[in-house]
Amino acid sequence: MTTTGEAFEESVQALSRAGVDDPRLDARLIAAFALNRAPEHIFGFPEVELEADEIRLLRTLVARRVAREPLALITGEKEFWSLRFVVTSATLIPRPDSETLIEAVIRTFPDKAAPVKILDLGTGSGCLLLSLLHEYENARGIGTDISEQALIVARTNAKRLELEGRVEFVYANWNDGACNFADFHIILCNPPYIPEGDRDSLQHEVRQYEPHGALFAGPQGLSEYSTIVPLLPDLLKEGGWVFFEVGAGQAETVAEMLRGAGMYSISISPDLAGIGRCVSAKL
Ligand SMILES: C[S@@+](CC[C@H](N)C(=O)[O-])C[C@H]1O[C@@H](n2cnc3c(N)ncnc32)[C@H](O)[C@@H]1O
Repeated sequence: MTTTGEAFEESVQALSRAGVDDPRLDARLIAAFALNRAPEHIFGFPEVELEADEIRLLRTLVARRVAREPLALITGEKEFWSLRFVVTSATLIPRPDSETLIEAVIRTFPDKAAPVKILDLGTGSGCLLLSLLHEYENARGIGTDISEQALIVARTNAKRLELEGRVEFVYANWNDGACNFADFHIILCNPPYIPEGDRDSLQHEVRQYEPHGALFAGPQGLSEYSTIVPLLPDLLKEGGWVFFEVGAGQAETVAEMLRGAGMYSISISPDLAGIGRCVSAKL
């Protein structure tokens, strides 16, 4: 028989050999998921003996992480803005850096009872839009994507968070020009922004397992902003705001594009590492 403590140590060894960043943390979270126990149980009750099917499932999941599959795809969930989101290989895994956009919106629109209309371009799991609908109880929103599989995940997340009555997730491609939407108070957009040339230097987890349609955007990583910025005047209400997520070193260029499109009150908000991560502007 194998105990929980022995299985945990075996997992840590396997993950360390594979070069996983924090093997003890990942081993604990995978064990908690596989054994359907709280993470603290793994340390608290090391002497508990595992059933054969439990140890088999644990080893299968650890082997996936050894192959550098992201933890969120193994557990099928990722926390964002203190909410839990379903994620699949069709969606970008929500990043803590993207919470910079949520904070910037809340600073700009402090009235949480306001009946704001929000558009989320390239919604993925729906994490940005659904987090804001959770904050603004009278807000309504539309999330768009060109990935039908991502739209299915976003609808699932809306249901799980009991927000489906205030949101629609629809197919729309910003390369097809202005869509049939208009009059939004807030536009959120975290478009693909990684330069094509950075493909080989990405973490294996990202390059191998996250959807490339969510990642890459031309030689400088700026091609999607160039397409989307000219659409904004047709999509926003007069006085409405856009909140773009940008990659490291892109904020000034995106701010300049917005200035060129006649938008004002442009501001750049840093993420926790001090990198300009959100560019906001008013129409
Ligand atoms: C970087 S991900 C952001 C996902 C999510 N908003 C987040 O912050 O986690 C970009 C998303 O844009 C979508 N996308 C890429 N090109 C698009 C296009 N031309 N029109 C609409 N959506 C697009 C991708 O499928 C992907 O879901």
